[in-house]
Amino acid sequence: MARRKMLHDGKAKTIFEGPEPGTVIQYFKDDAITGNGKKHDILPGKGVLNNRISSYIMTRLEAMGIPTHFLKSINMREQLVREVEIIPLEVVVRNIAAGSLSNRLHIKEGTVLPRPIIEFNIKNGELGNPMVSEDHIFAFGWADPMELEEIMAMSWRINDFLSGLFAGIGLKLVDFKLEFGRLYGEYGELYIILADEISPDNCRLWDIKTNEKMDKDRFREDLGGLVEAYEQVAERLGLVPKGGILKGGNINEQLAAGLEEIENELARQRKLKGINRNPPGKPRKI
Ligand SMILES: Nc1ncnc2c1ncn2[C@@H]1O[C@H](COP(=O)(O)OP(=O)(O)OP(=O)(O)O)[C@@H](O)[C@H]1O
Ligand SMILES: [Mg+2]
Repeated sequence: MARRKMLHDGKAKTIFEGPEPGTVIQYFKDDAITGNGKKHDILPGKGVLNNRISSYIMTRLEAMGIPTHFLKSINMREQLVREVEIIPLEVVVRNIAAGSLSNRLHIKEGTVLPRPIIEFNIKNGELGNPMVSEDHIFAFGWADPMELEEIMAMSWRINDFLSGLFAGIGLKLVDFKLEFGRLYGEYGELYIILADEISPDNCRLWDIKTNEKMDKDRFREDLGGLVEAYEQVAERLGLVPKGGILKGGNINEQLAAGLEEIENELARQRKLKGINRNPPGKPRKI
């Protein structure tokens, strides 16, 4: 196979040039790295599970009218997505206090917030992705008011939908991080679409009954059992059979490949119905 051009080598994913202009391939790695880069580990199976969970969630969001970059899953670790110009913001939606919110404001972890809160961080790893206000965003031109309004409206809808989806499988959606991108249409029109990934790497998920953490905090807080927890999330979503696709850290490749085929068949059917042919979101003048 011809060597593909690597466009970006991130902490959890690598982005390769796609087969057609306007597409890229997201490759999900097994690397777990903390935000400050101090801790790094390879957790076999994490990439496969995140790829599956993220493709599933993106597909569900697309079906309820949220335009996303997801096109189809290629194999256990790779998905084809639309290439976008990433808006350099991390959009964090919080329902329950945890992580940096608890640390910054001394709100006890687990406190249900009076209402969901959206925060923005500028994507700049060297600075530690600091929190910024809407005014910073507009003043420095990271996004304009119309773009931010669209981003916030989508984020609230995603929060409502995902909170329900996870509640249905016995998980609390504590908080999560989204990234959005700009997509330019044939006539120069601009669409804002959801990009990156939605997985236990960037959602905090707690078991409703036991409050057990089922997300990347297992790595951040040295709790162990991260891959098992992610697999449990995938299993509850019905994405892997009971007993899972991982056996002692080894992936049952045959079983996992079979699941990809099912997913691609669903994607093909969706395409036949024309869902993917529609432009994502409302066209808008730049
Ligand atoms: N559809 C897309 N088109 C182009 N770039 C994308 C798309 N979706 C996600 N990305 C970018 O690809 C990279 C994914 O890699 P990863 O999440 O591992 O990066 P990271 O280590 O978190 O670094 P970064 O600080 O750049 O997010 C991110 O930079 C993300 O913004
Ligand atoms: Mg990232």
